[in-house]
Amino acid sequence: MSTRPFAEVASVGTAVPPRVVTNDDLSRVLDTSDQWIVERTGIRERRVAGPDQSVAMLARDASLIAMDRAGVGVEELDAIVLATASPDRLLPSTACDLQALLGADNAAAFDIAAACPGYVYGLTIAEGLIASGQSRTVLVVGAEKLSTITDWEDRSTAILFGDGAGASVVRPASAGGRGILSTFLKSDGRLAPLLYRPGGGAAEPISEKVVCERSQFMKMAGREVFKAAVLAMAEACDEALRRAGVSAAEIDLMIPHQANLRIIEATAKHAGMPMSKVMVNLDRFGNTSSASIPLALDQAIAEGRVRPGSLLLLVAFGAGFTWGSAVVRW
Ligand code: ACO
Repeated sequence: MSTRPFAEVASVGTAVPPRVVTNDDLSRVLDTSDQWIVERTGIRERRVAGPDQSVAMLARDASLIAMDRAGVGVEELDAIVLATASPDRLLPSTACDLQALLGADNAAAFDIAAACPGYVYGLTIAEGLIASGQSRTVLVVGAEKLSTITDWEDRSTAILFGDGAGASVVRPASAGGRGILSTFLKSDGRLAPLLYRPGGGAAEPISEKVVCERSQFMKMAGREVFKAAVLAMAEACDEALRRAGVSAAEIDLMIPHQANLRIIEATAKHAGMPMSKVMVNLDRFGNTSSASIPLALDQAIAEGRVRPGSLLLLVAFGAGFTWGSAVVRW
C-alpha cells in the first residue's frame, strides 16, 4: 500500500488588486479609527478590487504565476478546484469562468464553498484526486472579492475584509519526502448564524426586502466568532500535527488564516510556537478568506522564510463553521 505523501504543493502564485484602502480611509466614512482597528485586529490596510476586476480574473492572474513557477502548461491541468465565498455569479461556478480564461481545455472545474479554510479544503480534495489516480495535475485556487459581500456601512465587519487570490499547482509527490504529510477538516453547521449572508440565496431570494435590510451582506457576531475560532484553530493544529506524526517544535513556519492577530497569537500560544515562527501579513491585506493562506505563503517564500525542505503548518477557520489544517513539507 502506498503511503503519504501522495501529492506535493509544487508552487504558489498570488494576485491582489492595486487599490489600497487604509484604516484612515475607512475612518473618513465610518465611526472608527486606525488605532481601534490596529489594536483589535492588527489590520492596517487591505486591497479592494474595482468593478472591472472579477474573482475569476484575480484567480487567473494568480494561477498563471503558479503554473509558470511549477513549469506546468495549461493543457496539463486536469482539475481546477476553486474555493471562494464571493463567487462572481451563483451559476455557473467561478472555476468554470477561470477555466475559460485560462483555456484549460483538459480540466474538470468546480467551486467549493468552505469559506476561509477553502484553500486547505482544496489541497485535501486535490490530494484525494491524485491519490485515487483521477488526476495528475490539479490547480487549487482561493480567490475572493469580499468587498462585494461586505456591508460598507457596518463598522464591525467593514474593517476586516479584503480582496485577493492565491493559487497552487498540486501534483504527485516526487522523491525526497516533499508533499502533503497530513490534512484535517471539520465543520459545525450549528454555528452558521455567527457569520453568514442571510439573503440573496434560495432561502431568501434577492428582493426589495433583502436589499432594504442589507441582508445580502455578511452578518457577524464578532465576539462569538472569536471564541469559536480560537477553539477551532487549536483543534486544527493538534490534529494536523498528530496525523503527520510531528511535534510543533519540528514546524519551521506556521501559516495561519489571517483573520485577527489576537486569534493568531492565541493559536501560536496553544501550539507552543513562538511568534517568530508564525507568518503574519494581515496588516497588509486584512482577511481575504480563502486567499489568505496562499497570500501569506507566497510572501513567506519571497522573504526566504520558506525554503525547500521547510516543514509548514497551515491552519484556518471560517464561516460554517469550518476549520482545517495541513502539514506540508515544502
Ligand atoms: N471601530 C470602533 N469601534 C467599534 C468598531 C470599529 N470598527 N467595531 C465595533 N466597535 C465597538 C462596538 O460597537 C463596541 O462598542 P460598545 O462597547 O460601546 O458596545 C466595542 O467596539 C467593542 O465591540 P466588540 O465587538 O466587543 O469588540 P471586539 O473586541 O470583540 O472586537 C472584532 C471586534 C475585531 C470583530 C473581534 O470580535 C474579532 O476579530 N472577531 C473575530 C472576527 C473574525 O475573525 N471574523 C472572520 C472569521 S471567518 C472568516 O474569516 C470569513
